[in-house]
Amino acid sequence: MADKKLRVGVLISGSGTNLQSIIDAAYAGEIDVEVAVVISNRQEARGLERAEKAHIPGVWIDRTAHKTFHSYNMAIRDALKEHKVDLVVMAGYMRLLGTEVLKEYPNRVINIHPALLPSFPGASGIQDAFDYGVKLTGVTVHFANEKFDDGPIIAQMPVRIAEDDAIEDLEAKIHAIEHRLYPEVLQMFAQGRVSIEGRIARIAPHPSETR
Ligand code: GAR
Repeated sequence: MADKKLRVGVLISGSGTNLQSIIDAAYAGEIDVEVAVVISNRQEARGLERAEKAHIPGVWIDRTAHKTFHSYNMAIRDALKEHKVDLVVMAGYMRLLGTEVLKEYPNRVINIHPALLPSFPGASGIQDAFDYGVKLTGVTVHFANEKFDDGPIIAQMPVRIAEDDAIEDLEAKIHAIEHRLYPEVLQMFAQGRVSIEGRIARIAPHPSETR
């Protein structure tokens, strides 16, 4: 375990099951990560309750209380800075993030998406892949930029769609993979193994692989 934990700020809009998987992995000591703050754009997001239960500061930042997208994003940036966040983790945060945040955290904002990008971006990646009839879909973790579900890909895991899978089966498989993959990627950041060269994200080998 590292001496200093990576402080992450998690951005959510809804249920927060990915947030929960990160909280659980951190609590179990499986990752060198501390969730420093949870920020939601929706007051009723279940993820805020999860934060409270875990004694993590939760902040609701209401878009409608801000006249401009700029001032809304400045509020997000200020909350992240106040909690001394090292890495910004979008986990079901269903809005674009402004340059105010992206510039403050260059190559330090990541997102998870429930499909194999660049296929099926958007808010319904699981359903869209299912409806299209692909045989293979999956989960992507990538650096965020000013577009939806764009940015250099850090990690992907495939999920096979079986002949008799209903959409609920596929959702369950995707979420199970998400809840494994996101903590794993956070640990890669905690170990300082993720870098970026232009459009390509690079993952250095795990210390045990270089001996
Ligand atoms: C997750 O499946 C995540 O991949 C998806 O929202 C869900 C949030 O669930 N994100 C996107 O579709 C981004 N385009 P959660 O709130 O239970 O973690």
